[in-house]
Amino acid sequence: MSVGERSRMEIPYRFPYPVTGEMLNAVQDVMRRRIHHFGPYTDALEAKLAALSGTTRAVACASGSGAILIGLQACGVRAGDEVVMPANTYGAVPEAVLQLGAAPVLVDIEPATDNIAVDQVEAAMTPRTRAIAVQHSYGHAADMDPLRRLAESRGVRILEDAAHALGGRYKDRPTGGLGDVGVFAFSNKAISATGVGGAATAGDPGLTQDLLDRRYHGRRGGYETHVLGYNFRLTEMVAAVASCQLDQLPAWNAQRRRNAADYTRRFRDSGLPLGLPVERAYASHTWLHYVVRLKERDALRVHLLRRGVATSVHYPVPVHRHAGFAGRLPYREGEFPRSEAACREILSLPCHPAVGEAEVEYVAAAVAEFFAGGR
Ligand SMILES: Cc1ncc(COP(=O)(O)O)c(C=O)c1O
Repeated sequence: MSVGERSRMEIPYRFPYPVTGEMLNAVQDVMRRRIHHFGPYTDALEAKLAALSGTTRAVACASGSGAILIGLQACGVRAGDEVVMPANTYGAVPEAVLQLGAAPVLVDIEPATDNIAVDQVEAAMTPRTRAIAVQHSYGHAADMDPLRRLAESRGVRILEDAAHALGGRYKDRPTGGLGDVGVFAFSNKAISATGVGGAATAGDPGLTQDLLDRRYHGRRGGYETHVLGYNFRLTEMVAAVASCQLDQLPAWNAQRRRNAADYTRRFRDSGLPLGLPVERAYASHTWLHYVVRLKERDALRVHLLRRGVATSVHYPVPVHRHAGFAGRLPYREGEFPRSEAACREILSLPCHPAVGEAEVEYVAAAVAEFFAGGR
């Protein structure tokens, strides 16, 4: 059946998550208790995130970006330092580095996973390198072991941005626990009902104390500032909703995995000229984003939208081309060819848990129609 003969579907890119009685009860409970911060739901959320990441402590934060900022500081990043990161990372990472008076040092990505090109990191390091900021793009873990060895041999820390990889794995270890400090984010991610919020994770007690201090003005129970920090507390209401949603994560990630396998099988069978995502033997992908690649990305996007299929691009602009970083980064266009090509060619198809076999079939048929010239 061609897509035109099917009944039209409207498939959002973002997960239209169910609003459950449990979530509503939790919100009411918080309101009745009148606990705004650091209550039982925050404790529960932090305990669940620590267990999920295999760390000893998760520090719930008002946003993933806040967790990145205090995570970099806990890693020792100060004015004059350098932080190595991929050129297609989320903008909050170089932004935080610059705000600390340090310098983002970019490397390219490896072509198959769009994660940091591990073989370029060593050459990018100098005596001023304080940390490596790694992102598990789309939910596929970066190759952490060689990075870990390199970081340890140079005495630098790893900030592991696991915002895309909630519930993912690298070898036998969970994502979010693979660096010195891990970062999770909730907004538009696997558990998204809160619209805000995130967490920093750590195993080392000194790092954990640093994160706790910086999250809330260096206050240790009283009004005295012990360390310079911020107000990055997560509200108890947000923690309650996030904690409820986190219980659904295994089932949701399983559905994402089924969708990804289904897309890949259909695209392979149809032999379309489409770059398909991979899952390396060392990774268990969370499929937050199912990312295909093609030169005519923008035209396919328009075509899919006409068919009711919303898509997204993560990310359309590499870090060194962001307007806000102009004049602050010493890089020219063309310097990171793989990142730049990815930004032009990648397209994220809807893969969330409300997508099932019928939706995948519909999207795959719409993509096939595009290549058949039926635009
Ligand atoms: C990879 C990555 N890291 C960090 C963040 C920051 O999270 P937040 O929006 O909660 O500040 C995001 C947000 O989209 C992200 O995609």
